[in-house]
Amino acid sequence: MVLPSFRILEMELDYHPEARGITVRRPQLKLLEDVPFPAWVAGNWETVKNFQAKPDDLLIATYPKAGSTWMQEIVDLISQNGDVVMCKRAPIYRRVPVLEYFMDNTLPTGTGVLAKMESPRMMKTHLPIQLVPKSFWEQDCKTILVARNAKDSLVSYFHFHRTCNLMPEPGTWHKFSQKFMEGKVSFGPWYDHVKGWWEAKDKHRILFLFYEDIKENPRREILKVAEFMEKVVEEDVIEKIVHLSSFKVMKDNPMANYTTLPASIMNQNISRFMRKGQVGDWKNHFTVSQNEDFDEHYERQMVNSSLKFRNVL
Ligand code: A3P
Repeated sequence: MVLPSFRILEMELDYHPEARGITVRRPQLKLLEDVPFPAWVAGNWETVKNFQAKPDDLLIATYPKAGSTWMQEIVDLISQNGDVVMCKRAPIYRRVPVLEYFMDNTLPTGTGVLAKMESPRMMKTHLPIQLVPKSFWEQDCKTILVARNAKDSLVSYFHFHRTCNLMPEPGTWHKFSQKFMEGKVSFGPWYDHVKGWWEAKDKHRILFLFYEDIKENPRREILKVAEFMEKVVEEDVIEKIVHLSSFKVMKDNPMANYTTLPASIMNQNISRFMRKGQVGDWKNHFTVSQNEDFDEHYERQMVNSSLKFRNVL
């Protein structure tokens, strides 16, 4: 039996876990202001666009696969002062909801969950800057942006598409890489996304971080996040947060690793959500000629931008 994916999601999560195994249809992409999105974003667009942010809302923004879940866990741990029990109160996508997540009007949407959430609220988005609801800027909200180098983002996105039935079929690695370079993937071109947020960082209250920096020195970057959140965190708590947000710990934490979702939505037998968590895994995927083509295309896309990623070309 094939049911609309939103029904299965809620049934399986909250009511009928035994319903696992029912086929979920992969979505088509739809354009919103020329940017492709899966139907589960496009279907609620007017509500998302008119979302009323509050001045103390904290937004985490990333292109998909840049470590948004990692940052969600970090901000929740900071706001709970490292309390491990509190941070296991619900799956990460419930603790820090995805603003644009939408399945059906009769069931919880990102905006619906946020409407009922106590302030200060924390939420995540993969929207490009030009599509972020205006109220965030009117309310002068803070945003933590995490950027990850294009090649590792592409590799991670490919494996995520294989695993997650809420994304369109990826096709072969080669085909998916082409689509990524052309920006014909969910949430649009990586290049425009990172450049747009980079240009906005001096106009709004945006803390711009790099996945590669967090990997290199999590303590240093977590301290930046805590300071940005105006939280004083004791030294022992910082150490605890570094540990609890490490790849190794998050990988085994059901409240962070998405294993609370049924296999019909995310089949982690194909590829784990917490897959490798490394910098440079692209070297295991790109052929020499593909790498040359990618670099040439990358240079053209990024030529006028001062945004630079370290040690990745
Ligand atoms: P890989 O597929 O390269 O392993 P997002 O949360 O934005 O979807 O990003 C997912 C990517 O971030 C995955 O990358 C995942 O493994 C990685 N990730 C999640 N938590 C991490 C952590 N604590 N440390 C390092 N990488 C992490």
